[in-house]
Amino acid sequence: MTESAKILRDLEKEDIRILMAIEIGMRRSEYVTISNIRFYSRYPMEETLFRLKKVHKLDLTIRDSSQNEIAYTLNSKGYDMLALHALVEKNKISQLGPLIGKGKESDVYSCMDDEEHIYALKVYRIGRTSFKNIKRTRSFLGERSHFSWLYANRLAARKEFRALKKLYHLKLNTPKPVAVNRHMIMMSYLRGKELAYYQYIENPAKIFNRIIKEVKIIFRKANMIHGDLGEFNIVVDEKGNILIIDWLQWVSSTHPNARALLERDIVNVSNYFRKKYNVESNPSKIIQSFYK
Ligand SMILES: Nc1ncnc2c1ncn2[C@@H]1O[C@H](COP(=O)(O)OP(=O)(O)O)[C@@H](O)[C@H]1O
Ligand SMILES: [Mg+2]
Repeated sequence: MTESAKILRDLEKEDIRILMAIEIGMRRSEYVTISNIRFYSRYPMEETLFRLKKVHKLDLTIRDSSQNEIAYTLNSKGYDMLALHALVEKNKISQLGPLIGKGKESDVYSCMDDEEHIYALKVYRIGRTSFKNIKRTRSFLGERSHFSWLYANRLAARKEFRALKKLYHLKLNTPKPVAVNRHMIMMSYLRGKELAYYQYIENPAKIFNRIIKEVKIIFRKANMIHGDLGEFNIVVDEKGNILIIDWLQWVSSTHPNARALLERDIVNVSNYFRKKYNVESNPSKIIQSFYK
């Protein structure tokens, strides 16, 4: 992201407007012709061409010259610029930090606000890496004919942000949502690492119980099931504080598969603590207690 921060500083408002014009055009088709970019930006042709040349040189776009008219599409770096620009303009972010995590379909960076508070910035990267990711996304993309990675990522960010907002009311150990823009979510950060990456933790039984207790409150009060709970989506710090992250695939407790998904979540966590720390538990009893 240090590279992104540098590019962002070099961009003028005209460059941002050209990128936004391509973004608008991408609602209709993946590549946007120069005349459409000109139309959406409302710049004269000369300015349009000048700006296109600049952003292309900065490696923010992909050019297609195989058709009659040259057309452009944003690459993920170009899309990053738009989201970062917006978050900076809204005074949410003032500095970008290093990569702190890489998930199945996201890159997570640290970032800072004016007051030097540190946050996590989750950047969705769906649909560009593997088919599996696309399939998972399709389920909530619905019947949209032209699959747009841009749209998929924006939708994912919005869905997770909404989940974080619902959860935040419960005042539990879930990330506080701070801002969302396009494919990026800014949220509170816990300085630690995934449960999976600890060789050993103090008081594993206590941590296990804390996780189950939270999952139960979330189920009962917010009617939400995580859906992908496990040692990779629980961040733990040195003091044993936890943060249950990665809420994209949450489902409501009224979902037809709710019970099976809840069971899988609980069994995952129970198995992990049993195998790694000899913490015994009875998943079916735990699940029963959720429905009482
Ligand atoms: N709020 C956060 N605080 C600390 N680390 C985080 C936070 N959110 C994400 N991470 C780190 O980034 C990684 C990927 O985030 P995650 O939300 O699980 O994305 P994915 O859906 O791609 O798995 C996590 O495993 C974790 O290491
Ligand atoms: Mg994850």
